[in-house]
Amino acid sequence: MDDVAQLKDRMKEFWALGDYPEVAKRFVPVAEKLVAACDIGVGDHVLDVAAGNGNVAIVAAGTGARVTATDFAPKLLALGRERTASLGLDIRWEEADAEALPYPDATFDATTSAFGLMFAPRPEIAIAEAFRVTRPGGVVGLTAWTPDGFTGQITALMGEYLPVPMGTDRPIDWGIETTVRHRLAPHSKGLSVTRGSITWQFESLERAVAWQESSFGALIAARAALPAARYTELRDRFIGLMAEWNRATDGTVRLPAAYLLVVARHDRTTLTAAR
Ligand SMILES: C[S@@+](CC[C@H](N)C(=O)[O-])C[C@H]1O[C@@H](n2cnc3c(N)ncnc32)[C@H](O)[C@@H]1O
Repeated sequence: MDDVAQLKDRMKEFWALGDYPEVAKRFVPVAEKLVAACDIGVGDHVLDVAAGNGNVAIVAAGTGARVTATDFAPKLLALGRERTASLGLDIRWEEADAEALPYPDATFDATTSAFGLMFAPRPEIAIAEAFRVTRPGGVVGLTAWTPDGFTGQITALMGEYLPVPMGTDRPIDWGIETTVRHRLAPHSKGLSVTRGSITWQFESLERAVAWQESSFGALIAARAALPAARYTELRDRFIGLMAEWNRATDGTVRLPAAYLLVVARHDRTTLTAAR
């Protein structure tokens, strides 16, 4: 097995830690924005890459689209399958690495990934795959945390401590507009990049720390892997960032987390002609 394959195997274990459904609840508004921005609707054939437990897939299916959801972590697939089955949604779930999608060229009208493709270790390969499986005239839509928001800062902090990278050396480069434009230029004729933000809310700083330590897989992985003193240092810095970013003044916690929403379209005339 080569180094990248070994890395991915360890990353799959890492993404399975914590309580991802609890985390994903907070990202539902982003899934709604992404599906709307991609103009997904009835009859569209949609692929959601690195789908987690199905936020984007569920919103897309709700529009009447035919949806395939993929992730490389078996635990997330199981969670996603269970969730969408309990909602009575006919979503197809398949295990797939974002860097090697098991579909022929031009299979989908739209390919999406919310805070997922950004973690693939080789950005150029992952984005080329997303475009390869999308038909000419279709759309590729992504969201990624920006380095200048709370979650981007936490992602960078975790990168300093985790024994296995969460993805690329810097997944949050996907949140820098110039980098995104550069990476998508070979594939897309029309690109829209907008900024959005969600707010992480907690009743208190203590509740925020307890929630992160029980739900956030990266922190759980770090705790298991690091010597106690090094974990304490990370924890202190994590709490320091939460205190620094907190916009609430009433004892609660409100952390603004900025992200980029990227929608890459091929030539519109091709889209109209192909439909
Ligand atoms: C932050 S979660 C986002 C999940 C989902 N898109 C959402 O919006 O809730 C990141 C997801 O990316 C998946 N992932 C990371 N690297 C991947 C890769 N190379 N191929 C497929 N999935 C990957 C993880 O298993 C995890 O489910």
